Amino acid sequence: KTSDDPNPIIHQATVSAPTNIACIKYWGKANPQYNTPINSSLSVSLDQSDLRAVTTASASSSFDRDRLWLNGSEVLDAATSKRFRACVDGVRALATDKVVVDPANGANRVVVTKDDWRGMHVHIASYNTFPTAAGLASSAAGYAALVAALVRLFGAEESYPGEFTAIARQGSGSACRSLYGGFVAWRAGGAKSDWSDSIAEQVADELHWEEVRAVILVVSDAKKETSSTDGMSDSVATSELLAFRAREIVPKRMKIIEEAIKAKDFESFGKVTMMDSNQFHATCLDTYPPIFYMNDVSRSVVQMIHKYNAWAGEIRAAYTFDAGPNAVLYTLDKHVVELLALVLKYYPALSDDLVGDYVSNLALAKEALEFKLCPSLMAAVEKTGRVHKHGDVKMVYCTRGGPGPQTLDPCDGVFDFKIE
Ligand code: DP6
Repeated sequence: KTSDDPNPIIHQATVSAPTNIACIKYWGKANPQYNTPINSSLSVSLDQSDLRAVTTASASSSFDRDRLWLNGSEVLDAATSKRFRACVDGVRALATDKVVVDPANGANRVVVTKDDWRGMHVHIASYNTFPTAAGLASSAAGYAALVAALVRLFGAEESYPGEFTAIARQGSGSACRSLYGGFVAWRAGGAKSDWSDSIAEQVADELHWEEVRAVILVVSDAKKETSSTDGMSDSVATSELLAFRAREIVPKRMKIIEEAIKAKDFESFGKVTMMDSNQFHATCLDTYPPIFYMNDVSRSVVQMIHKYNAWAGEIRAAYTFDAGPNAVLYTLDKHVVELLALVLKYYPALSDDLVGDYVSNLALAKEALEFKLCPSLMAAVEKTGRVHKHGDVKMVYCTRGGPGPQTLDPCDGVFDFKIE
């Protein structure tokens, strides 16, 4: 079909992708041009029932330019941005012929050739279920969904394993880890001059250690944070601690956490996760001028978790914080009710009746409200000065690890096919 065709075909694919929360943090670019990191990192891809990005990618010879819509509004000039271009052009270069089976004779018929795709513009419509007020990072899920949707649209094939993740990494570094489910490592790479070895790799899938849970505390924060991209560029320029961390510490921690995941050793997994979050925020403080992502509420959560673990005599929960004040608490299935009870005791909903609006999983919230916390645990937490106080936390998500991108039915798409 050509652009003069009165009924041009619109090819489309719709995909959803997870967000991910790092246990070993990516902070600092080795090469900003390729968007590669100074150290490897490792994260958990989260279940997509609560938090996900959904993207419909379409291509047609009738489109006169590339266009992008986010949550229903067109983002003007987005199509010329370096990150967007790297994803679209990167996946399109790996396109294959689109073949359909002719119903008349059962024979394969090429309907779009590899070269035809190059002559088509794309329309991308994406939405995410991250409440804007939540301040939860959505760029990892967003760029992963973009790349995964384009892969389906163009029938793209990798020329080496992990090539799609190398493309997503150029959208946003952490996005490369959202192309797989479960526990995912991003290998820093750098042995190859084109950085084709800076790719994500699945360490274990979401079924390997099903007991792991994530409780996300959305912490109120009026201030506008420093973006990750700007923050890490300042850290690379000024923090000597960051360079030491990348060179000496992270390689050891990557080994520790990968072994912990394989052995399902929560004690080791939790400890290294907390230590790495603390060290990432220490490098932010070591940046000149310093960057503060955690606030007083974040720090009170850190204290509560340490009291909880000390009381239990083992690590039952581990906190981690990204470039903002929200706390992500990893725990195991057998402790999640106790942990949520602790959270609801010290960071309560406005009232118990409103807990359904406050906690994403009502059944679990009800169990937690019924749970009798041990008085000695409460006494230990209260020693830190924490009291039962509403308003410091806006919302609590109870979630778990989950799979990588999912192809959705075209009817789930978000694109309105009006040809202007
Ligand atoms: C603190 O992936 O958002 O969440 O590559 O510049 O887009 P860009 O940065 P981004 O940084 C994420 C930083 C982090 C840690 C992590 O997810 O590993």
